[in-house]
Amino acid sequence: METKNIGLRGVEVADTRISNIDGEKGRLIYRGYDIMDLVENSTFEETAYLLLYDNLPTKVQLDDFNAKLIEARYIPKQMQKNMGNWRKDADPMDMLQAFVSALAGYYDEEFSNKDASYEKAINLIAKVPTIIASWQRIRDGLPLVDPDPTLSHAANFLYMMTGEKPDAEVEKIFDRCLILHADHTFNASTFTARQVASTRAHMYSASSAAIGALSGELHGGANTEVMKMLLDIQEIDRVESWIKERMEKGDRIMGMGHAVYRTYDPRATVLKKLSSELAEKTKEPWFAITEKVETTTIKLMKEMKGKDIYPNVDLYSASLYYMLKIPVDLNTPIFAISRVVGWAAHIIEEKFAEAAPKPALYRPKATYVGKYCGPEGCKYERLDLRK
Ligand SMILES: CC(C)(COP(=O)(O)OP(=O)(O)OC[C@H]1O[C@@H](n2cnc3c(N)ncnc32)[C@H](O)[C@@H]1OP(=O)(O)O)[C@@H](O)C(=O)NCCC(=O)NCCS
Repeated sequence: METKNIGLRGVEVADTRISNIDGEKGRLIYRGYDIMDLVENSTFEETAYLLLYDNLPTKVQLDDFNAKLIEARYIPKQMQKNMGNWRKDADPMDMLQAFVSALAGYYDEEFSNKDASYEKAINLIAKVPTIIASWQRIRDGLPLVDPDPTLSHAANFLYMMTGEKPDAEVEKIFDRCLILHADHTFNASTFTARQVASTRAHMYSASSAAIGALSGELHGGANTEVMKMLLDIQEIDRVESWIKERMEKGDRIMGMGHAVYRTYDPRATVLKKLSSELAEKTKEPWFAITEKVETTTIKLMKEMKGKDIYPNVDLYSASLYYMLKIPVDLNTPIFAISRVVGWAAHIIEEKFAEAAPKPALYRPKATYVGKYCGPEGCKYERLDLRK
């Protein structure tokens, strides 16, 4: 029997009102709005509200949402103490997954209804940056920096991580990065979140599972791998031979290719521009090297496999974050700072969708290709008789 739907590519498993991708045209829509419009005119907080509540907020709604986010930024001191017991070289994604999951143990919380889930969503969106920034300070042996209620979500994270308030340009660039990463339909981590939520597990549990899925290098982990690649390449003249060698071995070039887009990923378009602008300012080589990685991979892919390939969201975010002085292994956790909004929206939709068809517990079928000893099944052999 032939296995169908490997990797569930192209299989529609649920209705969603949250986002949509046109893979042929290279468009990404959040709740009806093109991300190009949002990235130009909105803020991360406003976009987060849109993704969660299905509408752009009024001024009063946005002020209220912001106030709730700001109030929820603190994480328990005990949690920060516990972080101190971790190995300093632990992967920040492992740390993030563990402490997001641990949030459920610090508060006596209601999880069962929709309103409670929105509160959890706000709590998560507000606390994930604090968890990451705290870990960064702790592993570097630096004093912790409390959240600053006067700063935006983007600026506050950079402030808590570095101890310095970013200038307006850096804040805007980072805010745009957060908008671009906030949701992306049924990607691996969001589908994980929805799958866990479909069992009626709670928001923190489903989100920590999603963090695990995001950590892999074929998903969110790709941006960290891209920066490692750029650092390994070091010079623009080495790009061609480096990429050729890897592609001839059958390796994948991180930051290139996408399961849905068959053209330029719109997020890569924006990130490429932002990275280029920042490189003008910092005079660092990383943008130019990345651009050469892009053109070389496209050229070699055509020559070797006769196929088109385009950059995805991770290609240019890597150099951008590097020039923003963000440690390389925080690239993927930063993805989570933003994507947690999408996870939360999808978890709420999965659990509380009112319109038919309502989501059901995910339970796909597998094709069994294992041991077969005949219709009666294999006979158990006692341990001492086994060879
Ligand atoms: C994202 C990804 C898993 C999508 O895969 P996909 O659309 O299912 O593409 P496939 O895995 O079917 O690959 C199609 C072909 O292109 C090749 N290919 C795809 N991405 C490639 C890449 N980044 N580098 C080199 N070759 C690549 C595959 O080897 C495959 O060749 P084959 O048909 O000879 O086997 C894939 O492009 C990839 O691994 N990219 C690198 C990791 C990455 O950047 N992930 C972040 C995604 S946002």
